[in-house]
Amino acid sequence: MNEIIERYESNVRSYCRKWPATFATSKGPFMYDEDGNRYIDFFDGAGTLNYGHNNPAIKQAVVDYLMSDGILHGLDMTTSAKAAFIKTLQERILQPRGLDYKVAFPGPTGTNANELALKFARKATGRTEVWALMGAFHGMTLGALALTSDSYSREGAGLPLVGTRHMPAPYTLPGLDAIAYMEAVLADDHAGASKPAAIIVETTQAEGGIQVLPTEFLVGLRDLCTRHGIVMIVDDIQVGCWRTGTFFSFERAGIKPDIVTLSKSLGGIGTPFAVTLVSPDLDVLGPGEHNGTFRGNQLGMVAAKAAIDFALDTDFVPQLQEKGALAKELVEGIAAKHGVEARGIGMIWALELGDGALVKDAIHRLFDRGVICEACGRGDSALKLMPALVTPNDVLREGMAAIDEVLGEVLGR
Ligand SMILES: Cc1ncc(COP(=O)(O)O)c(C=O)c1O
Repeated sequence: MNEIIERYESNVRSYCRKWPATFATSKGPFMYDEDGNRYIDFFDGAGTLNYGHNNPAIKQAVVDYLMSDGILHGLDMTTSAKAAFIKTLQERILQPRGLDYKVAFPGPTGTNANELALKFARKATGRTEVWALMGAFHGMTLGALALTSDSYSREGAGLPLVGTRHMPAPYTLPGLDAIAYMEAVLADDHAGASKPAAIIVETTQAEGGIQVLPTEFLVGLRDLCTRHGIVMIVDDIQVGCWRTGTFFSFERAGIKPDIVTLSKSLGGIGTPFAVTLVSPDLDVLGPGEHNGTFRGNQLGMVAAKAAIDFALDTDFVPQLQEKGALAKELVEGIAAKHGVEARGIGMIWALELGDGALVKDAIHRLFDRGVICEACGRGDSALKLMPALVTPNDVLREGMAAIDEVLGEVLGR
């Protein structure tokens, strides 16, 4: 434990308590502490380092830009970096998928992207209420926090969180038809709810416990939103940028959300960056009606363009399916051996231990073995596995073998 941190950093610090090392360097799937100890990173900056720590191609683009005296701060002025990013996003990601979104720049974090999405939806519809799902995590600023469902995070607000309502997720109750439930709420003038401006969804709830929402549910939600004139927002902040096997996580459902938010791995190597992608008919905010000094972080744009090029010009995309299949095989093997549930898709998985204390114990034991894993789900009862998408197969196997051993210890089997 680092004494300076313990003494002077606020009590609100969090991750440094879980992994009591002073990290100094990182490369690909590994982090290294000041003593040179190596850790396999199955946390991945909560989904920020999909292309691996210090990805050389992305880093080189950033270094070249820095050394060329490129614009480092420019609000939303027109810069070469901004034009190049938007062109690449449009031509290499959006147009090939038939997506006609305008690109809006919020501040450089995920919660900023969701705040902007809320403003678009509320202004375009003239309605206030926004629905989110039970189990949702959408950020920590007040608008987004009102959508986030966990009570610990919500209590931190210190004032009422308004303008939102939480609907059941498809897995909330066995046999529940969550779409039919929402339909019933919309139809009932005694439901105590108003027609929402938007419904926001993570196609796989990450902090909620790696709950992969069924494709039929996503298709049904798209249909419900279209029929009722409700804006469908997909929060792809954690599970976008190839995490589930495709650039956007909703591609498996063949749907087009009205608004999509991206951040985390969008910035390539951990460079803070976010976008809110908005359908042209919802692009209703006036110039400067949403603003911010760090909208469109220039280095983020450079890194984001380089990340898209890296993904599409190397074997990164072709190897995603194979890596996802290996992760599934390994995690499901561990789950079967230890009699626990595995949930996941692509390269984001959870092992449900059903008890936060067991997960905490497992995280500490894994850290001692040089593997960094996080908790997720209700009561932090699941072990979250989120390796970088460039993790070599032997490293994936090594990390999973440690998890297998540790589960044997904590479950006493
Ligand atoms: C799905 C989702 N939305 C929004 C956020 C908030 O992003 P940020 O922490 O960058 O504000 C997160 C962060 O974990 C997230 O997982």
